[in-house]
Amino acid sequence: MMKAFENKVIWITGASSGIGEELAFRFAAENALLVLSSRRFDELIRIREKCRMTEEQCMIIQLDMTDCQNFQDAVDQVIRQFGRIDILINNAGISQRALAIVTLPETERRIMEVNFFGVINLSRQVLKEMLKAGSGHIVVLSSMAGKFGFPLRSAYAASKHALHGYFETLRLEMKKENIVVTMVVPGRIKTNISLNSVTGNGSAYGIMDKGQINGIPVSRACIKIIKGIKNKKFEVIIARQEKILLLLKRFLPSLYFYLSGRISST
Ligand SMILES: NC(=O)c1ccc[n+]([C@@H]2O[C@H](COP(=O)([O-])OP(=O)(O)OC[C@H]3O[C@@H](n4cnc5c(N)ncnc54)[C@H](OP(=O)(O)O)[C@@H]3O)[C@@H](O)[C@H]2O)c1
Repeated sequence: MMKAFENKVIWITGASSGIGEELAFRFAAENALLVLSSRRFDELIRIREKCRMTEEQCMIIQLDMTDCQNFQDAVDQVIRQFGRIDILINNAGISQRALAIVTLPETERRIMEVNFFGVINLSRQVLKEMLKAGSGHIVVLSSMAGKFGFPLRSAYAASKHALHGYFETLRLEMKKENIVVTMVVPGRIKTNISLNSVTGNGSAYGIMDKGQINGIPVSRACIKIIKGIKNKKFEVIIARQEKILLLLKRFLPSLYFYLSGRISST
């Protein structure tokens, strides 16, 4: 039986670790054709080997999400190899572990460049190819911090909130064009994201938070993400207790603000 993603060209940004790595592994098992991008070339090679894929089946592109001037060239490379991009998964991202008061403006800009401007600029370039092809699917990794504020994540939460405004609009604009948009909204998933987070001055936080260690296993999260993509869902929520906060924010905001200030942010 034909698998749902067989021969689909799927581009995963931030494929060198965590959620991106697991998605690559799972889509490889579905016989998809992959494009893996991130800054760490050697890690991407490792993932391709782990996926047991050839260069013809899995293309690797070293791409920093802050280097928007390189995006067109990257898109052209993919089109030369595969002829189309069926699904773009905007997964690359960095988080923050610092109070707003001590976060430097350049750190805030870097977080916005990676998590927001990089994502919308790459999506625009890819969208042009999807429009030529007459269909496409753009997936965006947001966060629960894209739905409500969370201590130590001011710029991160801002960048993820911004994604919702942008991609909800894009979805409405592109409905007639057969372009699907899926927002993925995870709570804490067990990856190295806290290790890779930035402090106020932009240096690596370097600590694996307790909340992260006890997060949802990345395999379980990716099963849900892939199911959501397959079913062309607009929103895929992957969370435990954060779901309660989401409901409280909507229906009992005063209780939400009382409780959210008491939850450990590390
Ligand atoms: N884990 C969670 O609890 C959680 C919760 C909510 C949302 N999310 C979101 O899920 C996505 C994946 O996070 P993760 O948990 O898998 O974290 P992760 O393990 O730290 O992976 C982050 C990925 O982003 C890439 N990346 C970072 N900066 C980049 C840049 N400037 N240019 C290109 N790639 C860059 C990294 O690759 P290189 O270092 O090789 O560039 C890495 O592959 C992020 O968007 C994150 O905000 C995660």
